[in-house]
Amino acid sequence: MPQVFVPKEIAPGETRVACTPDTTKRYVKEGFEVVVESGAGSHAHFTDRQYQDAGAKIVSAAEAEASWGVADIVLRVWPISPEEAAKLREGSLFIGFLSPHKNLESIRVFRDRKVSAIAMELIPRISRAQTMDALSSQASIAGYQAVLMAATYLDKYFPLLMTAAGTIQPAKIVIMGAGVAGLQAIATARRLGAIVDVSDIRPAVKEQVESLGGRFIDFPMDETGEGEGGYARELTAEQLKAQQAAVRKKVVAADAVITTALVPGRPAPKLITADMIEEMREGAVIVDLAVEQGGNCELSKSGEAVTVSGVTIIGHPNMPAATPADASLLYARNIHALILNMLSDGELVLDLEDEITNGALITHDGKVRHGPTAEALSA
Ligand code: NAI
Repeated sequence: MPQVFVPKEIAPGETRVACTPDTTKRYVKEGFEVVVESGAGSHAHFTDRQYQDAGAKIVSAAEAEASWGVADIVLRVWPISPEEAAKLREGSLFIGFLSPHKNLESIRVFRDRKVSAIAMELIPRISRAQTMDALSSQASIAGYQAVLMAATYLDKYFPLLMTAAGTIQPAKIVIMGAGVAGLQAIATARRLGAIVDVSDIRPAVKEQVESLGGRFIDFPMDETGEGEGGYARELTAEQLKAQQAAVRKKVVAADAVITTALVPGRPAPKLITADMIEEMREGAVIVDLAVEQGGNCELSKSGEAVTVSGVTIIGHPNMPAATPADASLLYARNIHALILNMLSDGELVLDLEDEITNGALITHDGKVRHGPTAEALSA
């Protein structure tokens, strides 16, 4: 019976958990033994008792030290430290977000200890893997939460309101980047009644934005902004300037700006410049979801809410953690779907011919299988 171990997350501010009582029940039904470190679900309000009722064994923090080295599969949300990676037993399977470019030491430990590690962010974005797509499930939560945070910080209503004391004009929101997070942000801001203007550089997005009630900010580009795999490509300095000029009028007139623009493998494009912020009204709010990739806004700082010329700029490094119960529920289901995909006659099989396993398995059998990570390690 393969044993799944769920350690407590230790990263500051990480409230999510990689296995919920709901998924525990599913694993137990499929013949897994589930071991959960006491308190692992507490920030997401899943109690030890709920895990026990679902069939898990709860271990104390001291007992958990040994569980790392016994388990067949260890599940995690936040990237693990090299010290934690060193506790895994040789040949075991680790599943979690890994941010490999920032955590090369942990990858080295995985490789040397012959741990098979799956990076959730490397799961191919193909239709068959949609149930396992943790980037999407978490980005969608981040987009929703970013709007709520902007609404909380903002000094005015989002909706148009006609009251006995007068009419309140709806808030003007600009959303930069209309991928998974941006589209959810548009939907949420529209539900709250705001006027929403949106900029993206992939032409395919315009229709999606408009179907959600957003207005697309067009700007002339000599070539498409779409790069490989349906993602955006990095703009040239000239194209970026043209885009900044096109969005400037909307940005400086906005009550809130939510930025979600990313380019795979590159620093986030700088879309909101310091001089735009200077022209914004006092009391306006910017929420920069790209802050961990360097930020879309020139002045955002990770983990801080800074105020510049009366504009509050929020650089929350882990927005999904602000909605821990549902973020955990979806993330845990993503991992469960991934594990089901690897089960064959009740046995866990790492089939390298399978597009999903092959794409996401970053270390296996003493090798780093992800090209850019292998290169970075040998550099
Ligand atoms: P992402 O997180 O890499 O980027 C977010 C958004 O920023 C993208 O829409 C991108 O075009 C935009 N962006 C980049 N540079 C920009 C700039 N200078 N100005 C304005 N916007 C800029 O993207 P995400 O959310 O991961 O999704 C990317 C694509 O993948 C989407 O087309 C989505 O529909 C697709 N996708 C497909 C899935 C599947 O088939 N299973 C699952 C999830 C996403």
